[in-house]
Amino acid sequence: SMQWIKAVARADVPEEDVIAVEAGGREIALYGVDGEVYATDNLCTHGNARLCDGFLTGHEIECPLHQGRFDVRDGRALCSPLRDNLATYPVRIEDGVVFVAL
Ligand code: FES
Repeated sequence: SMQWIKAVARADVPEEDVIAVEAGGREIALYGVDGEVYATDNLCTHGNARLCDGFLTGHEIECPLHQGRFDVRDGRALCSPLRDNLATYPVRIEDGVVFVAL
């Protein structure tokens, strides 16, 4: 069952950028897009690269290793060489704190 895990202060999620946080023993990437916060796994589904080192453009995160792109809203793999979608997690903001459901 899902559990809401405290991740980081809302103010620490950069606008139009990505940071990595540890939550529930996992590494999660948090994205600030248009005032919203989205959460995905931080590890690319294609190889050993961290998406927090990639480039966020709108809702798309580009992997730094082979430039695969995912939609951060639903984790959809948008182009080659990606084959597998990325896990995403529900986000809740409460009292200035970001919680993710893991
Ligand atoms: Fe991310 Fe290859 S490791 S696209």
